[in-house]
Amino acid sequence: MAARRFPDRFVWGTATAAHQVEGGNWNNDWWAWEHDPESPCREPSGDACDHWHRYPEDIALLAGLGFNAYRFSLEWSRIEPEEGEFSQAALDHYRRMCATCREHGLEPIVTYHHFTTPRWAVARGGWADPATADRFARFAARTTRSLGDLVGRACTLNEPNIVATMGYLYALFPPGVRDPDLRRRVNDVLIDAHRKAVDAIHSGPGTAPVGLTLAMSDYQAVAGGEAARDAYRRDMEDVFLEAARGDDFLGVQCYSRTRFGPDGMLGPEDGVALTQMGYEFWPEALEATLRRAAVVTRGVPLLVTENGIGTEDDAERIAYVSRALRGVLACLADGLDVRGYVYWSLLDNFEWIFGYGPKFGLVAVDRATQARTPKPSAAWLGAIARANALPD
Ligand code: GCO
Repeated sequence: MAARRFPDRFVWGTATAAHQVEGGNWNNDWWAWEHDPESPCREPSGDACDHWHRYPEDIALLAGLGFNAYRFSLEWSRIEPEEGEFSQAALDHYRRMCATCREHGLEPIVTYHHFTTPRWAVARGGWADPATADRFARFAARTTRSLGDLVGRACTLNEPNIVATMGYLYALFPPGVRDPDLRRRVNDVLIDAHRKAVDAIHSGPGTAPVGLTLAMSDYQAVAGGEAARDAYRRDMEDVFLEAARGDDFLGVQCYSRTRFGPDGMLGPEDGVALTQMGYEFWPEALEATLRRAAVVTRGVPLLVTENGIGTEDDAERIAYVSRALRGVLACLADGLDVRGYVYWSLLDNFEWIFGYGPKFGLVAVDRATQARTPKPSAAWLGAIARANALPD
């Protein structure tokens, strides 16, 4: 059967995030948010997937499937439980995670901040306080001194646009504020934090390329919706894409499209299937966002650091990823510098306010026993990774 090959050394991985899989991350703002009766959270994260203890088996499972990279995040509140007080035990744990990846032939792609912020930092103003950028850079520098030599790629902030928008405009994430002006100021603090963390991580040890990861959507305007689309996209994407100019890479994270009409954002189009998240089943959005990121960042190397689908139907997952990968191939055929594809997620895990409902994982997790069961999509995508090619 004909196959379409990806470039040599193309990155094939899956992703997780500390708070969504480790368990017991009580010292951060999300644990508090999950237990706040006023928050929209469906359930608390609790033990999550007990990945804090089970990461050796999970990494071995990932490597055995055929992948060559693992994206995971550090939990800042474990490493720095109080301001200026660093836990060598936690730093050693994350260094062991990086070493375990290397032992299995996996590149560790390490995210320094994936939505969760230590309680002490929130108590001092969180991302609304410009000084948090310096606090984050200090954490990045201290952590890099401990494990930087083992890191393959470093992501400073996971989806800073989501942290700002969900936390300070829509009140769905902590701190649950609705303030458009403050949201824009938080954007600026996060961009400053990214810039300072890039310098901190580049200070070494190690030579890992550094970038931020951005939640992107294929923002489409129906007749008369262009102005509303452009205005929304400016604060949601453009300011971060512009800030990423000159970076070592940009992590593109995309799941679907978003449509706008003259009066603003539209809901899903009639007749288009929906995923468990309520997103339209629209895998072609990945190609559209890669193309836009390449243009607005003026050619920064791109890495798909998240793409996936929440669904109970694993055949639908395979269909979605297959179409998304065809879009990546089309970008590559047109000369775009796309370095790899990281599927979200390795494991069914804690999906923030949605709890354990949505199933993004290539691997199912029994909530009662923590037993892992790979789905057919795990072997299917692992085989593509091993072959570095997509069968027709
Ligand atoms: C995000 C986060 C992930 C999510 C994933 C599925 O993009 O919101 O990076 O933590 O779990 O995207 O929604």
